[in-house]
Amino acid sequence: MAEQIDTPRALFARTDALRLRGERIGLVPTMGALHDGHLSLIDALRAAGATRIVVSIFVNPLQFGPNEDLAKYPRTLASDIAGCEQRGVDIVYTPTPAAMYAEGFQTHVEVEQISLGHEGPLRPGHFRGVATVVTKLLTAAGPCLAAFGRKDYQQLQVVKRLVADLDLPVEVLACPTLREPDGLAMSSRNRYLSAEQRAHASAIYRGQHAASRAFAAGERDARALLALANTEIAAHFDSIDYVTIAESHTLAAADTAAPDSSVMLVAARIGSTRLIDNCLLGHECLDTRTP
Ligand code: PAJ
Repeated sequence: MAEQIDTPRALFARTDALRLRGERIGLVPTMGALHDGHLSLIDALRAAGATRIVVSIFVNPLQFGPNEDLAKYPRTLASDIAGCEQRGVDIVYTPTPAAMYAEGFQTHVEVEQISLGHEGPLRPGHFRGVATVVTKLLTAAGPCLAAFGRKDYQQLQVVKRLVADLDLPVEVLACPTLREPDGLAMSSRNRYLSAEQRAHASAIYRGQHAASRAFAAGERDARALLALANTEIAAHFDSIDYVTIAESHTLAAADTAAPDSSVMLVAARIGSTRLIDNCLLGHECLDTRTP
């Protein structure tokens, strides 16, 4: 049975006792509605040396904008806990909004440049909400290995930056994106898609794949690579928020793609569902599957 803990103090007390016994804590921060992508982070932590696994499940109100899907975000706690137990998770951390944001709460963490582009302007306040909650989750878990998916590429860079800047005693593990057989990145939001929308949704992967293949064949001009991805995605999605090529650490937009340091970032809408994905040009999207 996994132990369920629901306050930051109780979590810190528990992990501290475990650390004193020589255990290495692994943390997977999530908002629940767990799928195999989330669960793969648990395996990655174990492979990296974590001996006790904590999965946090908290739908963080601070990172949702007023017109976003906070109220309808899928909440599937019972099956999430069952999934965690099947993977041998030791602690499921399920704080309430009141335990995380007590009356009078007014301290936020803001990561500057990396939050500004891509998702930043389209989701004002989003990364501030993410950075704040991640800082609180990492503080409550104490010194640990913490796993984050490359699926949320900009978020991963924000987290790496705040851990470095605030000297948090945490090792960040960046994990690959798990995909459905047709290439669609697994996401809690995929369950919003109708069967018809679902059939179109893998166009993001195909667009990224086309660009990645052209890159591998020597194309370096960002406009040419973006055109390949845009054509495929535009044919299947209702609108595109952005398709961009950026430097993979700073996330600054790039006119020319470079080996080992260019990421293609995509956000597009199908019906009322917004999906994001990305690939490191010349790496991911070529080594997994062919659409
Ligand atoms: P959530 O969307 O639940 O994702 C939790 C973690 O799972 C993130 O690190 C995310 O990148 C990773 N993940 C999601 N889909 C994945 C996939 N297909 N393959 C591999 N990893 C995947 O991201 C959040 O929650 C929140 O913003 C959070 C960091 C918990 C802060 O509230």
